[in-house]
Amino acid sequence: MRSKNYLFTACLMAASIFAKAQVVTIAVETQHNALVLQTDAGKNLKMVYFGAKLNDAKGYAGIAKMYKPNDDSGILDDAYTPSGSANLAEPAITVTHADGNKSLDLQYVSHAVTKVDDNVSLLTVTLKDPAYPFEVKLYYKTFFKEDVTEQWSVIKHNEKGVVTLNKFGSANLNFKADGFWLKQYHGNWASEMKPEESKLTHGIKTIDSKLGTRANLYQPSTFIISMDKPATEDEGKVLLGSLEWSGNFRLDFELSPEPSNYLRLIAGINNAAAEYHLKPNEDFVTPALVYTYSEHGTGDASRKMHRWARKYKIVDGEGSRLTLLNNWESTYFDFNETKLAQLFKDTKKLGVDMFLLDDGWFGNNHPRNGDNAGLGDWQENKLKLPNGISALVKEADANGVKFGIWIEPEMVNPASDLYKAHPDWVIKESGRPEKYFRNQLVLDLTNPKVQDFVFGVVDNLFIKNPSLAYIKWDCNAVIYNANSQYLKKDQSHLYTDYVRGLYKVLDRVRAKYPKVPLMLCSGGGGRVDYGALKYFTEYWPSDNTDPLERVFIQWEYSYFFPAIASSNHITDWGKQPLKFKIDVAMMGKMGFDIVVSKLNEQELAYAHIALKNYNGLKDVIWHGDQYRLQSPWVNDVASLMYVNDSKSKAVVFNYLVNNRYNAGAKAPIRFKGLDATKTYSVKEINLYPGTGTVLETEPKYKGDFLMNVGINPQVSAFHTSVVIQLDEVQ
Ligand code: DGJ
Repeated sequence: MRSKNYLFTACLMAASIFAKAQVVTIAVETQHNALVLQTDAGKNLKMVYFGAKLNDAKGYAGIAKMYKPNDDSGILDDAYTPSGSANLAEPAITVTHADGNKSLDLQYVSHAVTKVDDNVSLLTVTLKDPAYPFEVKLYYKTFFKEDVTEQWSVIKHNEKGVVTLNKFGSANLNFKADGFWLKQYHGNWASEMKPEESKLTHGIKTIDSKLGTRANLYQPSTFIISMDKPATEDEGKVLLGSLEWSGNFRLDFELSPEPSNYLRLIAGINNAAAEYHLKPNEDFVTPALVYTYSEHGTGDASRKMHRWARKYKIVDGEGSRLTLLNNWESTYFDFNETKLAQLFKDTKKLGVDMFLLDDGWFGNNHPRNGDNAGLGDWQENKLKLPNGISALVKEADANGVKFGIWIEPEMVNPASDLYKAHPDWVIKESGRPEKYFRNQLVLDLTNPKVQDFVFGVVDNLFIKNPSLAYIKWDCNAVIYNANSQYLKKDQSHLYTDYVRGLYKVLDRVRAKYPKVPLMLCSGGGGRVDYGALKYFTEYWPSDNTDPLERVFIQWEYSYFFPAIASSNHITDWGKQPLKFKIDVAMMGKMGFDIVVSKLNEQELAYAHIALKNYNGLKDVIWHGDQYRLQSPWVNDVASLMYVNDSKSKAVVFNYLVNNRYNAGAKAPIRFKGLDATKTYSVKEINLYPGTGTVLETEPKYKGDFLMNVGINPQVSAFHTSVVIQLDEVQ
C-alpha cells in the first residue's frame, strides 16, 4: 500500500517543471496519469502528451520531438487555441478587440502551482497576447488519488473599451492515438441517456445544447472517448468527461486531417447567440470540464469519477440519504389535507423516512390543479391545504416521518399573479407571440430581483417550517424567445448569465442551508451535470420509472454519476412485479411513488424485507465501488455489483432484460472487485414471501472462485430479479 508520505511527495510533484533552454515543460500529474504542456520556440503553449505517467518525469521534456507530423503549420496541439492570427484550427477562443480587430495570439508567460491539500493541486498557466493587453489563465485542478482533473479558463483584458468574446472554451485538450471512438448520448423526456458509440472521422463532430434551461433534454455534455480501440469495461484507454455547466454547452471533437491521429477536444459554454461583452479588468470565468482517464477500461474510469464526485462535488456525497414516499403518481394534482394525512400514515406503514409532497400545493387566484396555472404563486392553496404547509410538517412529524416538498421556482405560468405583477421578470419577446413549454415560461434569473425572489421561495419555506427535511427542485421548460428585459443591450449574455444567476441563488441557499437534501430534477434528467450537482444531494434520472427501462437508463448514468446521487423510485410504470421494481430501485437512493393501500399483504411484506436489506446494504451501495458485470444491451441478464472499501461485503443485482423464449442466465457471472484470498458467504436476499432461493451454490466461496468462475444467478422468466449478498467469513 502506498504511504501517506508517498502521496504527499507525489502530489508536490503533480505539476513539475523542467526548464531547458527556452523550452518550458509542465507535467500535470495524477496518481497514474500525466498531461504535459510545453512551449515551442515561439512561446506557444502546446499540449504534447496525455496518457500514463512516466516513471522518470524528466522524460516529458523529450516527448514532443518524437513526433514528426507532416504539417509545418504547428497548429494542431495548442493548449488553448486562439483565432484570427497564425493558428487556423477550430479555436478555443475567438474575440473582437475593443478596436474591432479580430486577431488573437496567446503566448506563454508564466505558471504557478498551488497545493490545496495533500491530494489536490492547482496549476495556473498565464498566456498573453503580445499585441493586445489580453490574457487567458488556464487552470488545471488535479485530484491525485482519483486521477481526476477539472480544467477551466479565466479570460481578462485591459483594453480601452469592451472586448467581445465570440467563443470562450473551458478546455482545449489534444490526444494522440491510433483512432478514437466517441460514446455520446441522446434522448428526450422519459428516454434519457441513449448511448451511441462511433469511430470519429475527420472533421469536427459537435455535440451541443441550445435549450437554455433543461439543457440536457436532448443530449447531455457527458461523453466517453476510447483511444486506440473501443474500450471495454475492464480494458482499454478511456477518458470520461462532463462539462460542469447547467446551460447551453458545446463540445467539439476534431480529428485532424493530417496527421490523422490527432484529436482535439474543445469544451465549454455554447457560444451560439451568446457572445459576451467583457469590460476591462473583468474576469470571465468559464465552467470546468471534469475528466478522468484510465488505461483499464470504463469501469475503472467511472469508479474514479464516482470517488471524486462523492468526496469533492456532490453535497454530502459521503453521507446518508432519506428513503421516501412521493405522491406525484398516486395523486397528481388531486389531493387535500385528508388525503395527505392518510399518505403520512402510509409512509410510516411502508417504513420509509420521509413523505415528499409533489406539485400542486400552491396558487389561489390561479390554483395549481393542472400544469397550466399557478407556477410563481408559492402560497399554499387554501382549498387543498387550509392549514398550510406548517400543519403538514407537524402532522408528518406526529406520524414519525419527515416532510419534504416540491418546487419549480425558476418558472411561471401566464396564469399566475406573479406573471401579472412582474411581466418584466419573464423571459419573452414583447414583439412575438409567447411560446410555452408545458404551459410555462422561464423567469429571468439574470435579474438580481428575480434571484431574490427565487431564493425567497426556498428561504420562506424553511423560515416558516424549520423542520422541513427535503426539497425537490424541478425545471420543466426550455427558453424560447430568449429576451431579457433586464439585460437591455446585452441580450447575448442571457444564456450565460441565466446559469450564473441560478448558481448565485443556489450559493445563497447552500450558505444558509448547507446540509439539507435537495433533489435536482428537470422533468426527468434534463439537468444532470456537475455544475448543478455541486448544490444537490441527488438527481432525478428520468420520469420513466419502468424498471426495465431504468436498468438501461441507470446503467448509462452510472458511467458518470455515483449511485448515492441516483434517485430511483418504485412506481406503477412497467409490467414487472414489485420485487423487480424494488430491486432495481435499490441500486441507488431508493424511494416509492405508489398507492401503499393498493399493495397486497405479500407485497407490503416484501417492501419491508427489501427495506431492511437496503438498510443493511446502503453503505455498500452508496459509498462502495460499483462494478458493471454484464451489460443489458447485449445480454439477457444485466448484472451490477457494489463492493465496500475493505472488500468484506458486496451485493450483486441481476435482472432479466429479455422476454424471449428461454432467455436467462446460461452461464455463471464473474464477480469483480473482491479479495481473491478472502472467503465469502453467498446468499440470495430480497426473497419474495413464500419463495425460496434459486441459487444452487455452496454457501461459501473464495474470492478467486467468484471472480474467475462466478455464480450463476439463475435468472429466468420465473426469477426475473435475483439479488445476491456476499459477506466475508473468517
Ligand atoms: C416533472 C418531474 O419530473 C415529476 O417527477 C414531477 O415532479 C412533475 N414534474 C410535477 O409537475
